[in-house]
Amino acid sequence: MNVTVQPAVLPGPNEPCWCGSGTKYKKCHKSADAVELRKRAAETGTSGVRRVKPGVISPRRPVPPEIPRPDYAETGRRAPKSMDSLIMPPEKLVKMRRACAAAARVLKAAGEAVRPGITTDEIDAITHELYIREGGYPSTLNYPGGRGVAPYPKSLCTSVNEVVCHGIPDSRPLENGDIVNLDVTIYLDGFHGDCSATFLVGDVDEAGRRLVQVTKECLEIGIAAVKPGLPIRVIGQAIEPYANKHGYSVVRAYAGHGIGETFHTALQIPHHDDPEATTIMQPGMVFTIEPMISEGTWQVKHWSDGWTVVTADGKRSAQFEHTILVTETGAEILTTVSES
Ligand code: MF3
Ligand code: CO
Ligand code: CO
Repeated sequence: MNVTVQPAVLPGPNEPCWCGSGTKYKKCHKSADAVELRKRAAETGTSGVRRVKPGVISPRRPVPPEIPRPDYAETGRRAPKSMDSLIMPPEKLVKMRRACAAAARVLKAAGEAVRPGITTDEIDAITHELYIREGGYPSTLNYPGGRGVAPYPKSLCTSVNEVVCHGIPDSRPLENGDIVNLDVTIYLDGFHGDCSATFLVGDVDEAGRRLVQVTKECLEIGIAAVKPGLPIRVIGQAIEPYANKHGYSVVRAYAGHGIGETFHTALQIPHHDDPEATTIMQPGMVFTIEPMISEGTWQVKHWSDGWTVVTADGKRSAQFEHTILVTETGAEILTTVSES
């Protein structure tokens, strides 16, 4: 039995259940829904702090059959660990560049749609069309989750205010004063390109604007730290003190990642100073840097959907992300929109 509360308005006890079983609601999903609603109320809190509440998730959007897709698109299961090499050969890099440029274009258009009143589901619908128009598949759609978690149901991540990352687009309209991260990943011609940015919704308070600005600078500082011959650790060693200096913390539970023919390779890019990040950077490596910077604690909690990551204290968190290539001298940002 599916125990997720589905509709925005629940049926009366003697009405047919929303699940389509034909049974009266009270004999079907009513008690399961009550448990779920209590769990959500506990998560979203009522204690003065404004919290983002889960909305209704729309049905899955189809992708035309002619669009090539990653293995999990059909199965929703993790493929056996692939042995992606750390260095991308030039012939693959050509395709990787195209995927990253397409991701950057989709993100730009998605950002232009941000305004008070638009729902995150409407932004999902816009990006879904754009991925397809680029000839690509939305990498997050049906992406496998952890144990007991259903595959990710949407074509982008929309993370509002205290949502750190992996927020699922739903029926919640963006409100004046929100901040929202849009995280776009496209699978194009066999390669994933991944980027995100945090956008201001209408008039955001000074503290929120500062958080977003400093987070953008954290990404820039992380990229500037990339140098062949140095360990990955130097990226977090650059970002963390800068965030701390501005009174912010760096989320530790999620990191940047190697990317290419696989969405997330085994290579991890921590954004805090992590002594275990000993891999030496080499020209030809491709990975993301995507710092999540929080106003309060770096610690996180998860909603019962298994995906949505929120700050443990309910304070806001922002994020920016680029996919980068390690060059002979530093880093080249791949997820950019070319000027011409
Ligand atoms: N794009 C995210 C990243 O930067 C990953 C999202 S996976 C999802 O790594 F399933 F949550 F969408
Ligand atoms: Co991303
Ligand atoms: Co990423």
